[in-house]
Amino acid sequence: MTESVSTLVLSDDAQAAGIIGMFLKELDKFDCRGYVSDLSQAYEIIASAKRILLVVDIDDRTEQKIDFVTKISAEIPDCKVLIVSENPSVELMVKLMRAGAREFVSYPLIKTEFLNSIQKLADSFDAPVKESSRCRIISVFSNKGGIGKTSIATNLALEIAKTTKENVALVDLNFQLGDVTTFLDLKPSFNISYMIENLGKINEDFLLSTLEKYKDTSLYVLADPPFFKMADDVSPKQIDRLITLLSKTFAFIVIDSASAFDDKTITALGKSDLVLLTAVANLPAMRNCQRCLELFSKLGFANDKIQILINRYMENDEVTSDDVEQVLGKKIYWKIPNNYFTMMSAINKGIPVVELNPSSNVAKSYRDFSLFLTDNIFRADFENKLKNNRKDD
Ligand SMILES: Nc1ncnc2c1ncn2[C@@H]1O[C@H](COP(=O)(O)OP(=O)(O)OP(=O)(O)O)[C@@H](O)[C@H]1O
Ligand SMILES: [Mg+2]
Repeated sequence: MTESVSTLVLSDDAQAAGIIGMFLKELDKFDCRGYVSDLSQAYEIIASAKRILLVVDIDDRTEQKIDFVTKISAEIPDCKVLIVSENPSVELMVKLMRAGAREFVSYPLIKTEFLNSIQKLADSFDAPVKESSRCRIISVFSNKGGIGKTSIATNLALEIAKTTKENVALVDLNFQLGDVTTFLDLKPSFNISYMIENLGKINEDFLLSTLEKYKDTSLYVLADPPFFKMADDVSPKQIDRLITLLSKTFAFIVIDSASAFDDKTITALGKSDLVLLTAVANLPAMRNCQRCLELFSKLGFANDKIQILINRYMENDEVTSDDVEQVLGKKIYWKIPNNYFTMMSAINKGIPVVELNPSSNVAKSYRDFSLFLTDNIFRADFENKLKNNRKDD
């Protein structure tokens, strides 16, 4: 940590706030601003501080404080939030993480645990990716072309960036027929071949200035190479290294993968935390999915890592959701409704459907999907933290 950081406690319980204040005072590098219970007073202090750690006791006026954390996280990125609670439920913590909180500690407070969490938050000011939200790599895959991978990768990446406000990299690994830049109407100055030639130089500044930022969002795009020939010069090992480097800067990487089981694609899928195996609900697609699942199992991919995504879903499809789940022996993770006209119009205009037509059924499905997916991640994070805290006790 290079600069001094202020701390503030927001609590309705003077006694609990006093104990937290005592702990904080032990860390003399922190400038302790005491405690407040009034939200507007808290806002003023936070807004006037340069960098501030806010400890929120969430047990009273819970909903009001969730709204407050949401507002602060959206407006003041240099305020980091730690939650304390007597009996935190998973659902409450997921809500708070979605609101922007990144650390939590439960009552009765254990000094070392509390100070560790505060220190972690303080360190995250200088770390490009917050320690508590390590990079998640999500690949959209199908071994059949034209199934909707690019539509899904693009809209999902954009929604994740908007939902989490974290930096998201959208990587086009379709070396022959990349479409991401067309779908977003971008003309990037650099592409994946340039990145690979410069692997040795890559750091956070290089990435954030070289990848193409999508409008005023936190979505950054890495385009496919402009010439077919360039693809041959890229090795799976370089793809592996590139993804590792990207994961140090970005909280999420969304990969639009090629419709093939080549070694570059398998490398990218292997490095992914989640592979969205995408299909439409018909018989040939189900057969294909079965083959993919068999292959993934041979490659040793964990069962949970592969999730089934049905695109162009229709209630009256001849092959029903139950059929799909029965044939594949897996629950469907998400279904995106069929809406050819809206999707095609978005593609032709180079505007993601979530922006062009936010009230359409597909846009709503992408928004809900992004919340579902990120909430699952927050839930797993929280459960891991609980497990680790118990191990430390
Ligand atoms: N939810 C949807 N409803 C109806 N049509 C859709 C939907 N999603 C995508 N499509 C259509 O499917 C077609 C293929 O989409 P897309 O280019 O995203 O697929 P892809 O898997 O990336 O294809 P490729 O293999 O060529 O890379 C497009 O015409 C698009 O409009
Ligand atoms: Mg595509």
